[in-house]
Amino acid sequence: MAESRSIKTIGLLTSGGDAPGMNPCIRAVVRAGLARGLQVIGVEDGFEGLINGRFHPMGPRDVGGILQRGGTILRTARCKDFMDQKYQRESIRSINDAAIDGLVVIGGDGSMHGAQQLVDRGIAVVGVPASIDNDIFGTDMCIGVDTALNTIVDAIDKLRDTASSHNRAFLVETMGRESGYLAMQAGIVTGAELVLVPEVETDVEQVGQVMEAAYRRGKSHCIVVVAEGVKPPISELAERINSMEMGFSTRVTILGHIQRGGKPSAFDRLLASRFGTKAVEYLVEGKTGVMTGLNGGSVEAVPFSHVFSKRKSLPMDQYEMAKTLAR
Ligand code: F6P
Repeated sequence: MAESRSIKTIGLLTSGGDAPGMNPCIRAVVRAGLARGLQVIGVEDGFEGLINGRFHPMGPRDVGGILQRGGTILRTARCKDFMDQKYQRESIRSINDAAIDGLVVIGGDGSMHGAQQLVDRGIAVVGVPASIDNDIFGTDMCIGVDTALNTIVDAIDKLRDTASSHNRAFLVETMGRESGYLAMQAGIVTGAELVLVPEVETDVEQVGQVMEAAYRRGKSHCIVVVAEGVKPPISELAERINSMEMGFSTRVTILGHIQRGGKPSAFDRLLASRFGTKAVEYLVEGKTGVMTGLNGGSVEAVPFSHVFSKRKSLPMDQYEMAKTLAR
């Protein structure tokens, strides 16, 4: 954890996929910063705006009425250019031109790695984890996960109405290219008959057998929650299941980006407010190269080295529980 120079002006940006709760976090950073007598500068469009100096000062009214809004008022981007040293140097120039002494980066795993590049170049940075995937090591929860989960639950509850009415099976795809966290949690709390995650190999024959067994047990519906990253992909899975002799007829629903939008839940607003406030505190205290992490209910400064040291694994006890409870 390196020491940074004294902080008078902080910049803040949102990067990567948007996550519900980014706005409450922006609000917290701005207001906590202003309360400490700092100047706060909003960087537009994530690292892209950092490279190009798309900055504007932010006052308390600029973040009024955004607590309940999804998305991010600063906008966001997935900026491949930022991995290029040339663009990293350009962003350092922009940061210095604007006299920014410290930066808050709100985003997912890729954004934390981008933040590390700036730390390596001597910029004081605190990261705030925001990603519906909940795939960042070093924090129990990321901003956006709870809201996305509630959106999924709402959708699956509705699909179940149709499934039960028609005696159908639904394959429901949740986001999560590399992480089955959302799918698994949603499966548990909606009572899905089966959950498929990228962390566990999928045996399509066995999926068919579980679905058929549910039919034979007299279930009026069968919900299979499939994480985006599962192989084979959901379209192929559906095709192969439809070709099997099956009591249920099967439909596919891909929830897609509705999971990323919408007003943040109370949990996400609170988490975002706590993370944003702490991020400012850490910068003022001279902490850099750290991420705000929720650990056992407390917010802690987690060094990036720790964040990058492991992949966050799926809690397999919960995965087993999902199976046990689906009888
Ligand atoms: O990382 C968040 C996430 O929503 C993943 O779950 C998903 O795989 C990916 O982003 C989709 O990215 P994009 O919106 O760029 O297509």
